This record gives sequence, structure tokens and C-alpha cells, in this order.
Amino acid sequence: MLPGPTNVPNRVINAMLTPMINHRSDDFRKLYKDIVSKTQTVFETSNDIVVLTTSGTGAVEASVVNLIKKDDNVIIPVNGEFSTRLADLIDNYGGKTIRINSPYGQNPPIEKIEEAFENNSRIKALYVVYNETSTGTTLRYLSKLGDICKSHGAFFVVDAVSILGGDELPVDKWNVDICFTATQKALAAPPGIAPISISKEAKKYMIENPPPSQYLNLKRYFKYYNENYETPFTPAISLFYAYQEALNIIIEEGLENRIKRHTRCANAFYSGLEALGYTPFAEPGSRSNVVIAVKYLTGIDDKKFRELISTKFKVLLAGGFGELKGKVFRVGSMGEVSSYHVMRTLSAISSSMSILGVPPIKDGLSVANDILSK
Ligand SMILES: Cc1ncc(COP(=O)(O)O)c(C=O)c1O
Repeated sequence: MLPGPTNVPNRVINAMLTPMINHRSDDFRKLYKDIVSKTQTVFETSNDIVVLTTSGTGAVEASVVNLIKKDDNVIIPVNGEFSTRLADLIDNYGGKTIRINSPYGQNPPIEKIEEAFENNSRIKALYVVYNETSTGTTLRYLSKLGDICKSHGAFFVVDAVSILGGDELPVDKWNVDICFTATQKALAAPPGIAPISISKEAKKYMIENPPPSQYLNLKRYFKYYNENYETPFTPAISLFYAYQEALNIIIEEGLENRIKRHTRCANAFYSGLEALGYTPFAEPGSRSNVVIAVKYLTGIDDKKFRELISTKFKVLLAGGFGELKGKVFRVGSMGEVSSYHVMRTLSAISSSMSILGVPPIKDGLSVANDILSK
């Protein structure tokens, strides 16, 4: 139940047993074309897709090196580990971040973003971490930001690493120029692949202003795909097969059903955990449907609790990052997550609490079960 890597269906694991192929062959071209087309379906976009053989950070870095030049002004809301890392990366590449800081667990009001656009000239881009994995906080007004960017001639870049496939993100409808994710989260495939979508305008910019990077130079990926349906460098072929199967599963379930399932499981988790005595870390209205973060109760030690629940009940939970270390625990409620995972996790949490001498306040299982049965 980690916020990545998440559980991977057997169909996806088995796909990795496919014998190796030449990445300069028709077999590969067929595979890559299919992956690109299915990624477009899941991203709800007709934009170009690049499939990087990297973890999510490779895509984060690609979104910066291909777009940000020295002294470019970039607006970015910062409220956790991943938005801080991203803002630092932009600065390291010579960009000038205009950071809209808000307390962890909260998002800035949209007016703050509008003000940043009004008060600064020549904004190159707005970068947003849609789901701040470190705190379980989702920016719920993402749909409105694309139009704001358009009206200011700025690119709109979305880090959707821990959320795409588990919550709404229609890339074209929301005018997202660059959107990326990683396969080990809500897509329920193994780690190692990071798909990115790039709008026509962003693509044109990248082709005209290529970065000095070799591996992450997206211009090369466009050229190889457009000319031959290939990647410029050797792709992780086994992972491509796995990702293809994960996409098949998503399309079979249907994106809408999948998002509903994530929402239902998240609601059951929040209500069940609240009944047990926990308070969600994120404020209402910003709570994630894929990463459930709650504050520890007094008397429960992070290390002891997570060790107990992992060894005795075989449930893996994540702790907090940085200043939240020891203060919160996080449940990855994404990918394959189902009623079974919710009930089993809540039962393990509830039993561990009793063993540690901090018994649950109410029966969280029946509260969660009511939600799941609706
Ligand atoms: C929002 C977000 N961005 C970026 C990353 C980095 O991804 P990776 O660890 O796959 O490199 C993560 C990882 O959890 C993340 O949650």
C-alpha cells in the first residue's frame, strides 16, 4: 500500500517475459506505436507522446531542460517535498522561480497564482505538482490554470507522477502543454518508464531551442518517432511490454470507472481512518484520492508501527518526509486498489493500534465497508 511502487497485476508481470526484440525492428515499432496511442487515450490528449526509460524524475528533468533557459520567470506553487525539488531544479537550470509557498497540506488560493501573473512580466511557464505525494494534497483547481496560462502566453506544465490514471486529468481539455507521469504509481506497472505529453506549441519551442542534454533532449525523441516510430536510445523493452499491458487493463476498465474506483476507495479510507481516530493531514478540499496521509496519534511511534504492520500483517505503509518524518503515515490508494485493499489495510492498522496500546476510537472497518458497499 505504498505511494509507489504499487501492486502490479499478474498480466503486467507476465508481459515482461516476452522474448527480447530488436529496438530497430518492426516488432518494436508496432509496440511503440501502440503504447503511444494508448497513452494518448489515458492522458486524454492528441498531443505528441514521448516514452522515456527513466523513473519519474527523468520526466521532471526533461520538462525543465527542454523548456527553461537562463533568467526565464517561472511560477510554481510550493507546498511539499516534490514541489520544492522541482522549484530547486528550475533554479539550478538558470530559471527564476516565483514560488507561491503555502503550508504543507494546503494549496494557495487560485487568486495568488493570478496575482503572480499580474505582478510579474514575461512569465515563461507555470509548473504545478498536481498531487503532492509527500503530504497527500491535490490541487483541485488545476482545470482552471490552463486558460490563465494561455491568456498570459505561458506554458502550463503538470507533474502528474503520483496521480495520472487515478484522478481526473484531461490534458487537452485542461490545456496542459507538458504533462508527465511514471508507471509505478496509479498506472500499476513496474518502475522505469515515464511517459510525457507535449503540446504543439511546446514541441515547436523545443525543436527550435534544443537543450545541451543528450538523453533528455526531446527533439531527438520527436525526430526518431516521426521518422521511424523508434526511440533515439535503447528503451527498456521488457518494461515497454509491461506498460502496454497496464494500458490495456486501464482501457478495459475505462478511465471513468477507474477514477470512480479510486474516489470510492479514498472516501472509504478517509472515513475509516477518521473513525479509528486519525485526522487527515491535508485540509478538506485538497485531499488526495490517491495518497492518503494522516497524522499519527499520540503514543504511536512511526518506526514501531510500520514495522509491526509490515511484519505481522504484511501491509506496507509509507512514513513522512523531512519535517513530516514521524508525524504522518501515508497510504498509497492507487493502481489496483480495491475494497479488498482498503478493508485489509484498515484491519491491519486497527489491530496494530490495539497491540501498541492505543486502541481505535470507533469501528473504522464498518464505516469504510458502508461506503464501499454503496
Ligand atoms: C509528485 C512526484 N514527482 C516526482 C517524483 C519522482 O519520481 P521517481 O521517484 O519515480 O523518480 C515523485 C515520486 O514519488 C512524485 O511523487
